[in-house]
Amino acid sequence: MSDKKTLFSAVQPSGIPTIGNYVGAISNFVKLQDEYNCIYSIADLHCLTVRQDPASLRKATQELLALYIACGVDPEKSIMFVQSHVPAHAELTWVLNTMTYPGELNRMTQYKDKSRSHADNVNIGLMDYPVLMASDILLYNTAVVPIGADQKQHIELTRDLAIRFNSRYSDTFVVPEPIIPKYGARIMSLADPTKKMSKSDENVNAFVSMYDDTDTIIRKFKRAVTDSDTKIYFDPENKAGISNLLTIYSVFSGVSIEDAVKEFDGKGYGDFKIKVGEAVAEGLKPISDKRLALLKDKAYLDGIMVKGAESAFRIARKTLSKVYRKVGLYSPER
Ligand code: TRP
Repeated sequence: MSDKKTLFSAVQPSGIPTIGNYVGAISNFVKLQDEYNCIYSIADLHCLTVRQDPASLRKATQELLALYIACGVDPEKSIMFVQSHVPAHAELTWVLNTMTYPGELNRMTQYKDKSRSHADNVNIGLMDYPVLMASDILLYNTAVVPIGADQKQHIELTRDLAIRFNSRYSDTFVVPEPIIPKYGARIMSLADPTKKMSKSDENVNAFVSMYDDTDTIIRKFKRAVTDSDTKIYFDPENKAGISNLLTIYSVFSGVSIEDAVKEFDGKGYGDFKIKVGEAVAEGLKPISDKRLALLKDKAYLDGIMVKGAESAFRIARKTLSKVYRKVGLYSPER
């Protein structure tokens, strides 16, 4: 490999990704490919922490790989693989579990939120979720992790665990840095711009899925909740709805937020919302076409998955053997 730094990120294949996943994660995956050695995972083991329909999970896993590629993640440049295909993730999680304290996990915001929203299924995996995520990252000597703002606490734990292991044994893990995009780290709900856009929102108008068609997209943007003012400018605190739309517009049209503000100066909210909807629909069209074409070629997608898992496995296995040796697990000569 080159002397570029390693970047790792992942998305869970649960449900249909929204434009929030695209803006906050996948669109950046594409941009970062030349600057770093990128490794992008499909975090299927993480999905098991909430109840899944098995057939849907299998389907969503293939669809997410197709989406990565359709968005422009290039299998010649970046490693793409499914987390459960590389057993080292679960194995390292076990070792790190023995160095993590319950208090570090049960104070995590995501754990608290999900325990509330899945009160009938508060399982140990849900609490252990951040340790599995730390394993994902630490196995690959990752220097940087692009993530949404909601994952920041998890990266802090990852750093703490890396430092703890390194000081208890000896230098083993690279201590990773998060990169949180300046704009778009948190795309908000179209129905309530004080809440994060979520694919599990019961109001389907709250989110735009990556698989919505043009009419649906425009209809949802027309209904987007804004404020009672009439001026269009960027101020996430006081104008959450408008600022959210400006961010989305900027990513899909390629126009900077500053230029977008100039473009819509003096225009009404109604026109603006339609323009945002059109930019999103136009941006998603080629991605959808490519994704649907890829999904017809299962052999190609499976080939990428197998190749990705092999490349990931080679790196992960080295880190895991080092860890096993350092903690004192005996390995026979072969
Ligand atoms: N927890 C992340 C999310 O829901 C997904 C994820 C799993 C991840 N493992 C990771 C992100 C490792 C970055 C690095 O968004």
